Amino acid sequence: MTVPPTMVTIGSGNPSARRFVGKDCVVTGAGGGIGRAVALRLATEGARVAVLDIDLEGARETLSLAGADHKGFAAKLDVRSEASIAAVAAQTAEAFGGVDVLVNNAGIEVLGTIAETAPDVWDEVMAVNLRGPYLCSRVFLPHLLARASAKGGAAIVHNASLMGQVSSPRLAAYCASKAGLISLTRSMALDFAKQNLRVNCVCPGIVHTEMLERRFALQPDRAEAYRVVSQRPPVNYIGNPEDVAAAIAYLAADEARFVTGSALTIDGGVGAA
Ligand SMILES: NC(=O)c1ccc[n+]([C@@H]2O[C@H](COP(=O)([O-])OP(=O)(O)OC[C@H]3O[C@@H](n4cnc5c(N)ncnc54)[C@H](O)[C@@H]3O)[C@@H](O)[C@H]2O)c1
Repeated sequence: MTVPPTMVTIGSGNPSARRFVGKDCVVTGAGGGIGRAVALRLATEGARVAVLDIDLEGARETLSLAGADHKGFAAKLDVRSEASIAAVAAQTAEAFGGVDVLVNNAGIEVLGTIAETAPDVWDEVMAVNLRGPYLCSRVFLPHLLARASAKGGAAIVHNASLMGQVSSPRLAAYCASKAGLISLTRSMALDFAKQNLRVNCVCPGIVHTEMLERRFALQPDRAEAYRVVSQRPPVNYIGNPEDVAAAIAYLAADEARFVTGSALTIDGGVGAA
């Protein structure tokens, strides 16, 4: 695998940056992949993190990687369920007393044209990728607005995709869900700007996680599939979860106070072509 020269290892972050000291953060889909890298980046920079995933074991593993002295917690969360989100929001309020940052990262990818995508599969993709961020934002909103009022700022960052900005064959439901999430980012940014709640999203290109490995597993030759995919970005390598975590941390941090309603592309130049 060709790795970017500046690649950081999971959890290392930037040792000099401590932008999240005194901040309480919530990350969905944090049991692996990009969500895990985000949780660890925020923890490394001083945050208390609620590490949430439908896969509780994965969430617990992420929490353990944050170190024994980390003051966050891991919990099971299904972003499709309002009751599940409400239960975790109550647990977070009890543990942290509020929320400064919500990262809506949980997502699923399903391949197919509309002809190949049955209505229940379409609904499932929307339920996780678009309704999930809407529901989580809605349930956590009072906690975020309270912190925004008390401290002068709070932030939501959605994990959308380059596939919400451009498209790709046989990815109809996924692309539509991510385009919707980019649009939702703008609506939310406008609706809550006056209350000091910023809302942004990231649009990653090809990132090496289990989601990508599941795609490779469908190919007859995994090594060849990897080789072809890694040559697609103009930079000549695919991203790692830490590349996306760095961008999410920036958008969540106070230094991005003038940034709201934006979609930050992190794709090694794929979308520029
Ligand atoms: N990997 C990429 O190339 C890529 C590119 C662009 C955008 N993204 C987006 O980044 C986000 C993370 O993707 P990843 O590559 O790390 O994928 P991943 O499959 O490695 O991780 C996704 C995580 O979300 C969790 N999850 C799934 N359904 C859930 C639900 N209903 N409730 C709570 N948690 C749930 C999974 O258990 C898993 O831990 C997704 O929103 C994805 O669409 C990924």
